[in-house]
Amino acid sequence: MSTRTVAAPVVDVKRVTTQSLQEMKAAGIPIAMLTAYDYTTARILDRAGVDVLLVGDSASNVMAGHETTLPITLDHMIYHAQCVVRAVQRALVVVDLPFGSYQGNSKEALISAIRVMKEAGAHAVKLEGGEAVVPTVERIITAGIPVMGHLGLTPQSIYRFGTYKVRARDEQEAEQLRRDALLLQQAGCFALVLEKIPAVLAAEVTASLSIPTIGIGAGVHCDGQVLVTHDALGLTTDFNPRFVRRYARLDQVITDAVQAYIQDVRDRAFPSDEESY
Ligand code: KIV
Repeated sequence: MSTRTVAAPVVDVKRVTTQSLQEMKAAGIPIAMLTAYDYTTARILDRAGVDVLLVGDSASNVMAGHETTLPITLDHMIYHAQCVVRAVQRALVVVDLPFGSYQGNSKEALISAIRVMKEAGAHAVKLEGGEAVVPTVERIITAGIPVMGHLGLTPQSIYRFGTYKVRARDEQEAEQLRRDALLLQQAGCFALVLEKIPAVLAAEVTASLSIPTIGIGAGVHCDGQVLVTHDALGLTTDFNPRFVRRYARLDQVITDAVQAYIQDVRDRAFPSDEESY
């Protein structure tokens, strides 16, 4: 088993802002981002010191059991975001605009983003896509709402891609991604998620931008990293792409605990006198 330095729990509750992320990039301090969908987990992650909590539309998979991110609705996302925002004292809370809530036109997108900010108290929104979403990004930012972009493997387009394979391996797609990244920066995005693209390309894009990149399956040279918390903690077991590192095996921890509980109930070993009134 490898040893690693454990980050000290957060005592300083100074809020992380989009500006802080910019400063972290400038200072070469990697940004740690994880997903969160509920109050209890968000509270633990925030107190552990994670910089950004993403209320990802991956909630569609890990919370609701859907095969893709497409079914989750704006109302569902707002519910999850409300739970997370209530828990958080320090992290920047970014909320995914779900499929169908922003692609129609930029006015519809702005209304969705305003709902997320107003009803959930989120700090920023994230949306997927490049050149095609630039007018939408600009319109949302004009209303004072920070936007995080998302390029590479964009799961809301899975039926167009037809596969979850690494994106931008060929030069044409890589060139489009470079262009998209610059356009999103020019449109005012405060950061970009780069998902499942070659590490060399992610490093090149990261070096070419003044805003931070957050990688998932995009190598170590991004300005930060994000994982789905359920994957990182080993709550999910049947999703095993190369980029997931399991920092715990909570499925086993939970199974052992639940089996111990069942045994105690069967044996009338729980509750004890001390646990009774
Ligand atoms: O929804 C999500 O969890 C995401 C991350 C994988 C970046 O978009």
